[in-house]
Amino acid sequence: MKKIAVLTSGGDSPGMNAAVRAVVRKALYHDIEVFGVYRGYTGLIEGDLKPFHLGSVGDIIHRGGTILHSARSEEFKTTEGQLKAVKQLQDRDIDGLVVIGGDGSYRGADKLVEHGIATIGVPGTIDNDIPGTDFTIGFDTALNTIIQAIDKIRDTATSHERTFLIEVMGRHAGDLALWSSLAAGAETILIPEVPYKIEEVIERLERGTRREKKHSIIVVAEGVGSAIKIGEEIKSKTSLEPRVTVLGHLQRGGQPSAFDRVLASRLGAFAVELLLSGKKGLSVGIESNQLVYYSISEVLKRKHTIDETMYQLSHHLSI
Ligand code: F6P
Repeated sequence: MKKIAVLTSGGDSPGMNAAVRAVVRKALYHDIEVFGVYRGYTGLIEGDLKPFHLGSVGDIIHRGGTILHSARSEEFKTTEGQLKAVKQLQDRDIDGLVVIGGDGSYRGADKLVEHGIATIGVPGTIDNDIPGTDFTIGFDTALNTIIQAIDKIRDTATSHERTFLIEVMGRHAGDLALWSSLAAGAETILIPEVPYKIEEVIERLERGTRREKKHSIIVVAEGVGSAIKIGEEIKSKTSLEPRVTVLGHLQRGGQPSAFDRVLASRLGAFAVELLLSGKKGLSVGIESNQLVYYSISEVLKRKHTIDETMYQLSHHLSI
């Protein structure tokens, strides 16, 4: 292996830059040429890549977003688009590719493997929904952003003795909601993995009122549905006047936490090591703080699950 490339794809996440830096520096350490691909698979199809040197990734470890920019490419979902991307790599004699992103990016990486490109996936998404790793890059930072927001909302919720619904990201996964509600001491949590009944939510709120709770915080994962609608339903069935905050994309930005920077550095460097040892089609991760890898196709087949004991705990602690 003489030349590799790296791209970031899908929803950006804090720590992606640290991962790009690790890929580039680890490759250069082993005298491997490395290219940065701009705008994910869109840029790969269009040949928007350039050689990176040590300085290309200087001063980025602490920055949110991704210096490579990101995209969700519709064209790459077609075989024609994939073959254009393969040609861009082959024209430059690039033998290996590191893809940093979430499940959509992994599906793209899997296609590249089928087309003969040695590809390694690095899990980068705030959703923490990639099987085969305890944590994805960006989850910890997003979680901290969320709890800072909930702490602030809690102040005004207490002053006004109000019920608040806070909608957090996570299209198909409740990890951000689960961890943030535990960390912030929310009363109720609604996540896509566990069906809910509005009557039960209301019963919990009323139980809180009976024991003179000054406020209630309900954390809603976006995969459950609109927190605004759920708030309206609660309003129509109770005497409460709930307020709703949708945290939205602010969860995706900001300086990566120390945890995410270290995770990204370890996973990015590990991806390069695997390419250099002739491996391909793998997803890297950490389990019990050990570096691990699984085949990308296996990771895509596995279903992400939440930690049931944590879910139970969130209920037990918010009675
Ligand atoms: O997958 C990461 C994520 O932030 C999800 O939590 C969210 O549903 C989605 O991306 C939003 O995507 P976009 O930025 O394209 O609207």
